[in-house]
Amino acid sequence: MVDVRNFRYDDLDRIAEIVSSSLGEYYPKSLYLEKSRDWEDGFIVGVENGRVVAMLLGIIQGRFETRILMFAVDKRFRRKGIGHELMNRFISLSMAREAKRISLEVRRSNLEAIRFYEKYGFQNTGVLLMYYSDLEDGLKMAKNI
Ligand SMILES: CC(C)(COP(=O)(O)OP(=O)(O)OC[C@H]1O[C@@H](n2cnc3c(N)ncnc32)[C@H](O)[C@@H]1OP(=O)(O)O)[C@@H](O)C(=O)NCCC(=O)NCCS
Repeated sequence: MVDVRNFRYDDLDRIAEIVSSSLGEYYPKSLYLEKSRDWEDGFIVGVENGRVVAMLLGIIQGRFETRILMFAVDKRFRRKGIGHELMNRFISLSMAREAKRISLEVRRSNLEAIRFYEKYGFQNTGVLLMYYSDLEDGLKMAKNI
């Protein structure tokens, strides 16, 4: 059973590991801290048997919108409902902030994640041409809450 809680500073090494292996991105700790500064509650982790196995970093995007900046579950722990728990918590946190919409970007080729988001009611709202550093297009998705 996964426990969802706010991130802590000493989770950051493990979070960076999950992000690099799942998303292929390497960020310094300072970036996570900077992004979470405006809304610490929007940065959550999934913990199973005392180990961080998933992360979701959300930010505030204007008065009535939140945005999912990073979301990843350790490969060995996928399809067990952990992403579901984090998404549900994030929707609740966003509603508690009176957000009316959640937005995100995803690689066009990332069909697993796109299917996951569609299941939660996210819809395609546009394309970001050559958005990623390797020039892959990004898909903009959003959901009203
Ligand atoms: C997207 C991601 C976070 C989903 O996490 P997860 O813990 O595996 O998701 P869950 O087990 O909670 O799945 C919930 C539901 O989403 C759907 N889903 C999840 N993974 C799916 C897949 N690979 N293909 C199709 N549907 C999928 C299913 O309906 C699933 O329910 P089910 O298992 O009962 O059928 C995870 O696959 C991941 O970390 N991917 C790599 C990183 C990434 O792409 N992040 C998003 C970038 S924007």
